[in-house]
Amino acid sequence: MTVPFREATIDLDAIADNVRHFRRLTGVEVIAVVKANAYGHGAAASAVAALAGGATRLGVAEIPEALELRRQGVHAPIMAWLHAPGERFEQAAAENIELGISSFDQLEAASVVASVDRPVAVHLKFETGLSRNGIAPADWGRVLAEAARLERIGRLRVVGLFSHLSNTSLDDDRAALSKFEEGVAAAASSGIRPEIRHIAATAAAIEHAEMRLDAVRVGVGIYGLSPFDDRSSAQLGLRPAMTLRSAVAAVRRVPAGTGVSYGYDHRTERDTTLVLVPLGYADGVPRQASGKLPVSIGGRRFTNVGRIAMDQFVVDVGDTPVSIGDEVVLFGDPTLGLPSAADWADAAGTINYEIVTRIGARVPRRAS
Ligand SMILES: Cc1ncc(COP(=O)(O)O)c(C=O)c1O
Repeated sequence: MTVPFREATIDLDAIADNVRHFRRLTGVEVIAVVKANAYGHGAAASAVAALAGGATRLGVAEIPEALELRRQGVHAPIMAWLHAPGERFEQAAAENIELGISSFDQLEAASVVASVDRPVAVHLKFETGLSRNGIAPADWGRVLAEAARLERIGRLRVVGLFSHLSNTSLDDDRAALSKFEEGVAAAASSGIRPEIRHIAATAAAIEHAEMRLDAVRVGVGIYGLSPFDDRSSAQLGLRPAMTLRSAVAAVRRVPAGTGVSYGYDHRTERDTTLVLVPLGYADGVPRQASGKLPVSIGGRRFTNVGRIAMDQFVVDVGDTPVSIGDEVVLFGDPTLGLPSAADWADAAGTINYEIVTRIGARVPRRAS
């Protein structure tokens, strides 16, 4: 079998199983978060897998992501919550996209494109301490009164009330939840009866039963990754969906003292074999991990040497026999003995979210 030059294999069954896991664990609706090309896993295929696993709604950041899913034939409810300044919501309304609303102006813009026979579905987002978007508490009264009026005249349907947590500490998240509950109570006094309230993403969905409410918006967890530093995917009952592979592009036997890659940050200490892996920072291999990046070749773990370049990096395999075309697994499921996205994150000083999300467009995704 020829080994792919570069490839991210996506285990769609793992995505479906991970969603099933969250359905069982929480007992509430799972909104599968498939923004940013499903954290690098491929938006449409991941969305379909998540729906097969029991998700009933999809979450994306921006409207173009939602429209692309529609273009790819995904008909499930989709919500989008981060809008361009001055967004008019025309296409979103035409494609039946549910809108996360963070301001009075957004509410008005949504109502303009609604009609009585086709009200726009919205989720009102309360700012509860993350200091990003969301309706500021000082505006809750005005926005809720207007949303209730628009609902009464049939231009709007308030499907959801939601917020997002900072995951700073249990106390901070509880404070955010209680602020959110004030918003829910204010909405009720204005006559708004949403179908769902949602505040928890992966971490709170796992950790805090009281924050699951009516739905959880799960991103990193459905891709089988842990949102915690101190617990692995397997400890959470999750299976990583992405395996990043490549084929050795060159093999070179070199003497001691040979400089490797730009700037000669590394010189070989003895006669050794250097192998070239054809992925670089253009493909999402973090340059900050230079000299620390773990990979698996022929079932053995090695660490890269020298600087990671745009298209390639070098691994010192010592005297291990390696040939051009041999498979390199860059990361995957650590229960199979492979480096994990979390190992890469440690090497790069970042989080596993960023590792998978930044795998570049030049790396083909293949469903497995
Ligand atoms: C509003 C919102 N909800 C849910 C998520 C999913 O978060 P996680 O990947 O931690 O589950 C995100 C991701 O950043 C988000 O921005």
